[in-house]
Amino acid sequence: MASHRPRGASLFAVALLLGAAALLSAPARSPGAASAAKAAKAAEPASIGSICEAQEWKAAHPGQALPAQFAEFDRPFPTLSACRSHDSAWDEDAPGPNQPIPFSHKHHAGEWGIECLYCHTGTDRSRAAGVPSVELCMGCHENFPAGYDQLEGIRLLKQYWQDGRSIPWVQIHRLPEHVKFQHQAHVRAGIACQDCHGAVEAMDKLYLVPDTKWWQYGLPAKKLEMGWCVMCHRDQGASQDCLTCHY
Ligand code: HEC
Ligand code: HEC
Ligand code: HEC
Ligand code: HEC
Ligand code: HEC
Repeated sequence: MASHRPRGASLFAVALLLGAAALLSAPARSPGAASAAKAAKAAEPASIGSICEAQEWKAAHPGQALPAQFAEFDRPFPTLSACRSHDSAWDEDAPGPNQPIPFSHKHHAGEWGIECLYCHTGTDRSRAAGVPSVELCMGCHENFPAGYDQLEGIRLLKQYWQDGRSIPWVQIHRLPEHVKFQHQAHVRAGIACQDCHGAVEAMDKLYLVPDTKWWQYGLPAKKLEMGWCVMCHRDQGASQDCLTCHY
């Protein structure tokens, strides 16, 4: 699904290309040293107001020092990829609900390799996978440098922590009450999270990844519908008894 590519990233790639093209063509159009200097000046942003904007500037000007007047934003953290993931986790145009905090799985589980089970601790032991507590987030984020407070997501996280409130994450997967699903049975049977949830570690913003299985005679069964469960149970020799899945 091409439309699932983070739009921010591709826009940025275009901006990079345009920037590179402008740099390459500038000397040809303006041979004088003065006008070259002027062109370089024009390429500088009017202002850099955050560490993330400084990271983007440095990425677009490899090997160049950040202009001195923006020195206060010249810090290594948050990293460029954290800034970009933070933005695309709240991309209105990407599929899935916007969460109360722009939290990126791609950044945490993908780039930093944090185990799924570190945050979803119940998955191999209980029915519910569960979502992590604010305490668990703060276990890492309490120790982060102050520069991270420039990210709205980190400010919000600390606000929930201070107020002693839990984060009202929007649930994406939901089965009706009459169905019993047990994570631990599946995880212990060796089924990967990704078989049911898609490539979570590559997504900044989560959504219900479509997965349609086809019965004989071409009847579709979409993810979380009964046919989706039963077809896998049939293929893998698991129980198809009504009472396995129903109360
Ligand atoms: C095991 C440590 C760890 C835990 C637990 C953790 N984080 Fe992070 N978080 C990181 C690291 C590392 C970064 C990236 C730092 C960088 O690249 O600059 C990060 C970056 C972020 C960012 C900015 C990038 C993004 O994803 O938007 C936000 C917001 C964030 N974390 C929120 C959270 C929340 C909310 C939780 C709890 C659900 C959480 N973190 C749990 C380590 C952790
Ligand atoms: C740093 C903590 C952290 C890690 C690591 C992490 N998750 Fe999550 N996960 C969360 C948080 C917070 C939410 C709720 C916000 C959201 O949906 O993005 C969530 C939500 C989800 C959901 C959607 C739940 C729903 O509402 O239906 C799935 C599926 C999921 N995670 C799977 C995974 C998988 C698979 C991995 C490993 C590849 C993983 N997670 C790693 C913190 C984490
Ligand atoms: C056999 C398919 C399957 C596998 C494998 C699977 N899940 Fe799920 N997951 C589901 C279904 C179905 C739901 C909805 C459950 C409900 O509504 O009761 C769900 C819900 C969730 C939720 C939402 C919160 C909750 O507890 O309902 C999270 C988070 C989650 N899964 C994470 C994971 C992680 C992490 C793994 C791997 C360790 C994993 N899942 C493996 C099918 C699966
Ligand atoms: C990707 C394949 C797959 C999908 C999809 C799947 N299951 Fe399963 N399920 C299994 C396997 C394999 C087992 C058998 C595990 C074992 O024998 O230890 C199992 C076992 C179970 C069990 C029995 C646990 C026990 O105590 O023995 C229940 C209940 C269950 N699944 C419900 C569901 C429901 C509800 C869905 C759909 C929302 C679903 N499953 C989707 C593969 C799947
Ligand atoms: C592997 C798990 C599984 C097994 C086995 C299973 N079901 Fe279901 N069933 C589901 C799930 C999941 C749903 C919810 C699907 C949805 O909401 O689209 C469901 C929904 C239903 C519904 C409600 C349909 C509706 O529109 O609300 C009925 C009735 C039902 N099942 C009957 C049965 C009967 C009878 C059997 C035994 C022949 C059976 N199921 C076996 C998982 C299962």
